[in-house]
Amino acid sequence: MTGCQMRYLAFLSDEPQALAEFYQRHFALIELGRSNEGDVSLSDGFYNLTFLRRREALNEPHLENGLHHVGLQVDSMERALAEYRRTTYGEVVVDEPSGVHFGDVRFFDPEGMPVSVSEGGFGAPATREVRPARIQHVAFNSLLPQRILHFYSTVFGFREVTNSVKFRGRGRMNRFAGDGVTNLAIHPYFHDTEGHEARFGVNHFGFLVNDMDRRLDALSKEIQVAKRPANRPFAEYRLFDPEGNKFDLSQAKGWEVDIDVWEVDGERREGRFETGEPGTRQSMGGTA
Ligand SMILES: [Fe+2]
Repeated sequence: MTGCQMRYLAFLSDEPQALAEFYQRHFALIELGRSNEGDVSLSDGFYNLTFLRRREALNEPHLENGLHHVGLQVDSMERALAEYRRTTYGEVVVDEPSGVHFGDVRFFDPEGMPVSVSEGGFGAPATREVRPARIQHVAFNSLLPQRILHFYSTVFGFREVTNSVKFRGRGRMNRFAGDGVTNLAIHPYFHDTEGHEARFGVNHFGFLVNDMDRRLDALSKEIQVAKRPANRPFAEYRLFDPEGNKFDLSQAKGWEVDIDVWEVDGERREGRFETGEPGTRQSMGGTA
């Protein structure tokens, strides 16, 4: 397994402190730092969640508020750069400010979406601290999911997981890949399924929790909480933060974070499951 892992998620916001406080309050995130410009970075023990104050000085090609881009820690910048140049035929490599709120270098995926890259861990704990709520899922909307999967596999060593192969078998465009911690879902932007919520680029992300009822109770006092339709193969709950960013909460369905490796109900399980199949310990008859 290569040492590349997704571990940074950046939001743009006009009120980054208030948004950061929402996530801190509900998911007990650790604060990594704040800048004079108003940026706030938090961690779940592995990810760096950065809320950037939206401003021209960021020099971003797209300056819409909301979920903005991901970041990856790479085992070797030299190797990642060589694969990036070979895969995208591109030379667009931009320096980032580094530090706790940014990566070291900016790549762009084949559809022009920004990707921060760093040899360091974005200021998050060097060794993963497994906390009660942790990010294990990131979902993109893209024009051609297969092309984005190829980019993440080639440049960052993501493995296409078993459920992705099943979607292929059903003629679907959706692709899923893992890096050992994150299940990366790549959904087609143009899709006519009812309930499909298009947003190009980073569409949403997801927390795995093991105390769903208590969390929903607290969240529902602040935001609207709706259970996902039972026929959808994805996480149990879809929520919208106070600025409309989408996130999933999952406990019993979990996510396939590597080939036949699942994070579900607070633990890691190996096996060839359907999405939603691993279930809770109770429904497995109390085993393992
Ligand atoms: Fe999702």
